[in-house]
Amino acid sequence: MAPLLEISDLQIRFPAAEAVRGLSLHIDQGEVLGLVGESGSGKSVTALAIMGLLGPAARVAGQIAWRGRAGSADSIDLLRQPQSALQRLRGREIAMIFQEPMTALNPVMTIGSQVAEGARAHSPSWTGREARRKAIAALEAVSIPDAARRYGDYPHQFSGGQRQRILIAMALINHPRLLIADEPTTALDVTVQAQVLELLRELQRQHGLAMLFISHDLAVVGQVASRVAVMRAGEVVETGPCARLLTSPQHAYTRSLLAAVPTLRTARNRPLAMIGA
Ligand SMILES: Nc1ncnc2c1ncn2[C@@H]1O[C@H](COP(=O)(O)OP(=O)(O)O)[C@@H](O)[C@H]1O
Ligand SMILES: [Mg+2]
Repeated sequence: MAPLLEISDLQIRFPAAEAVRGLSLHIDQGEVLGLVGESGSGKSVTALAIMGLLGPAARVAGQIAWRGRAGSADSIDLLRQPQSALQRLRGREIAMIFQEPMTALNPVMTIGSQVAEGARAHSPSWTGREARRKAIAALEAVSIPDAARRYGDYPHQFSGGQRQRILIAMALINHPRLLIADEPTTALDVTVQAQVLELLRELQRQHGLAMLFISHDLAVVGQVASRVAVMRAGEVVETGPCARLLTSPQHAYTRSLLAAVPTLRTARNRPLAMIGA
């Protein structure tokens, strides 16, 4: 089966930094790929390259094939599309959530209108009432309690975990095929983090969604991904099934990421186990 996304020999260079140096990876339909690596290893710029959101300072080479193999006539090379085509793809086929939910929401707009606006951006034929109904359903799907009543509330009236749920609702409202989650739980405390991870896994299974799940924390990635690519200084140094990477990492760098994990892992497994119970 052709991959949903295939990145081939991606290079991203800024005037002062070579951020990504020949990265290749693929994500299959419905698969969760974890991308892990220490801060500064090039995870976020890789995600931004997929979304077509790197600024003009970035020099980019290689291929990012969407819906097919790199180099095949059936796939679309995201690095060679006009902005208008990328804009249509964003949200509708590929959506992204970021680490800090407060900065991604407009503080002076109600959350209901922000979710509804996202829906209408891609389905302009919807009436205001239809968009509102979709938005409430999307908020209910991410377990925002009392969604219809809270539709008119502003971002600051929600907790950090709820704001991240709202962003997940916005990301998924148009049923994308791929969700890029860049450190989506890093800003949250441990218990809330476990709940948001559980929600992401549940939605992923429900919708057969493919996901690129980015984190500096291998233990967190291990809770969500089935396969992991380990990134260091702009390159993938090891890739494989999550279970194998966690039990018998081949690369010294992966072992050092794992060595940093145990204390965090015990702390984080507890709330997750409670949710599963
Ligand atoms: N807009 C930018 N301009 C210049 N350098 C950047 C920019 N964005 C990222 N970088 C550099 O690219 C490298 C990778 O950054 P990033 O992808 O954000 O790392 P990660 O997400 O893995 O922590 C870093 O060295 C960072 O300083
Ligand atoms: Mg980052």
